[in-house]
Amino acid sequence: MLTTLEEPTEAHQAQAGAPVVAIVGATGAVGIELLRCLEARGFPLRGLKLLASERSAGRMLPFKGQDIRVETLTETSFDGVDIALFSAGSGISKRYAATAVRAGAVVVDNSSAFRMDPDVPLVVPEVNAATLRHHHGIIANPNCVAAIATVALAPLHQAHPLRRISMATYQAASGAGAAAMEELRQSTAAFLAGQTYEPKVLPHPYAFNLFSHNADVDPDSGYNGEELKVVAETRRILDADQLPIGVTCIRVPVLRAHAMALTVEFDEIVSPAEARAILAAAPSLRVVDDRTTNHFPMPSEASGQDDVLVGRIRTDSGDPSGRSLALFVAGDQLLKGAALNAVQIAEMLLRR
Ligand code: A2P
Repeated sequence: MLTTLEEPTEAHQAQAGAPVVAIVGATGAVGIELLRCLEARGFPLRGLKLLASERSAGRMLPFKGQDIRVETLTETSFDGVDIALFSAGSGISKRYAATAVRAGAVVVDNSSAFRMDPDVPLVVPEVNAATLRHHHGIIANPNCVAAIATVALAPLHQAHPLRRISMATYQAASGAGAAAMEELRQSTAAFLAGQTYEPKVLPHPYAFNLFSHNADVDPDSGYNGEELKVVAETRRILDADQLPIGVTCIRVPVLRAHAMALTVEFDEIVSPAEARAILAAAPSLRVVDDRTTNHFPMPSEASGQDDVLVGRIRTDSGDPSGRSLALFVAGDQLLKGAALNAVQIAEMLLRR
């Protein structure tokens, strides 16, 4: 069933030519934020379909003052849909994205299923919007770390080509989904109550702990799947396929915003003052860099924010050539790292 959004306002009457949008994985951590972003940004809609597994069929989710019923995802779910926002994992994307495209929808896919497919643009609108021109029905939304990092890296790279990047990430529970966020809440409560808690979603105790990212580790290189995605996708988004990038991804007990320490080497010396000016003028970035009060980007201040926070901008003392800068970045994994970026892509589709 297609929910037609009816409100007798001028704004809605003007939306007769607006798209019908489906959210696949509407009940998930990202799915809920997709709904919120569509509402908060006044995305023009003629209809909205909320899709999830049969476990969630019949659940009601609020949107613009209405309750919309969640339906089970099936092969026929995309009839009449113009834009399908997928966020139910790679398996579901691999199985249903082509079905959605055949039904006439453009798919914006938040999973990793198609991100390295040369026929599928991998888009961060502030960085490589032009790549959207060449899609064949599927557009990939990047890995959350790659999306957040490239918002800060791209303006620097455009001003002074990057020669090397080294990153360490501090990744929130939200990246592992709603169940991992709940595990963080429950295990923290149990820890504080002096009770034992058996991890169910993540492989290690999460409360008052941190651990190497839970993605599978490649036994040969020692890199985990998340790290390999961050490297490949950051290169692709920056259009720098040979750029040397090293990364260590760590899961930390934070609910929803990722942070990352970036060390970037340029071809030439770039002063912290110039980098600060470049970053301050760039879209979707907010410089938080107050040395006097020791106030720098924090997940607590990035959570719920569209902008990515960047600070601790300083010359890297580990590079005697002076060509490297160190930065600290925090961005909401569910927003710029997922739902917001997907909705921005959908907005660009409307303008074409
Ligand atoms: P459901 O809530 O019915 O399980 P998260 O990343 O937060 O774990 O969310 C995953 C999303 O993907 C949820 O909305 C979940 O729906 C959805 N999902 C998982 N498996 C399927 C499936 N087989 N068909 C459709 N949606 C699915």
